[in-house]
Amino acid sequence: MKITSATYITSSTKLLQCPKPDKPEYAFIGRSNVGKSSLINMLTGVRGLARISSSPGKTQLINHFLINEKWMLVDLPGYGYAKVSKEKRNEFGKMIRNYVSGRENLMCLFVLLDSRLPPQKPDLEFMTELAELQIAFCMVFTKCDKVAASQLPKNIAAYKKIMSEEWEALPKYFLTSSNTAKGKEELLKFIDDSNKYFEK
Ligand code: GTP
Ligand code: MG
Repeated sequence: MKITSATYITSSTKLLQCPKPDKPEYAFIGRSNVGKSSLINMLTGVRGLARISSSPGKTQLINHFLINEKWMLVDLPGYGYAKVSKEKRNEFGKMIRNYVSGRENLMCLFVLLDSRLPPQKPDLEFMTELAELQIAFCMVFTKCDKVAASQLPKNIAAYKKIMSEEWEALPKYFLTSSNTAKGKEELLKFIDDSNKYFEK
């Protein structure tokens, strides 16, 4: 799929404020600083479309972007960022939970994971919660340009091992880098295929 247009639509503080759910939607979620906003810019080819920062906690709202006039990409705040106040963290948690469980046009949630790290507890807990809520998700390993070639297979094997204790199969996963555009074609193909299943 070629991206011909990518436009910022709106930022919402809660599910009820989000745009009308009349288009297929894909959201990026994961811990602060994992690279959610960067991935949106990489996929759309529009630098600066989603705001990025080297300090975690940059994205604080539910941001909607309209792609090719046909489908939506959503940039969400990171979960589990220690430096924002506990109140703010709970507020984010509630907002994210409401969004992922209540957004009727959400086709797939992409859970972003830092490819350099072995499985992290907050991510595993979050994915368990998604599975319990029966929310469809894929895993997206980020910053693959920064991971040692020998480390990546080890980290993925560790996910497989831990997750196979709870689930029958590992969810579909993508290897990406916003610096090199690794994974772009695969992700866009997946979205293109999924768009066909959208029913208003
Ligand atoms: P919050 O909005 O704070 O939750 O963060 P985020 O997940 O949106 O992360 P963001 O895209 O703002 O990126 C965080 C930092 O990681 C920035 O300094 C990016 O330049 C860097 N980064 C993101 N993706 C990549 C990547 O694929 N490779 C490398 N090397 N750095 C990346
Ligand atoms: Mg962000």
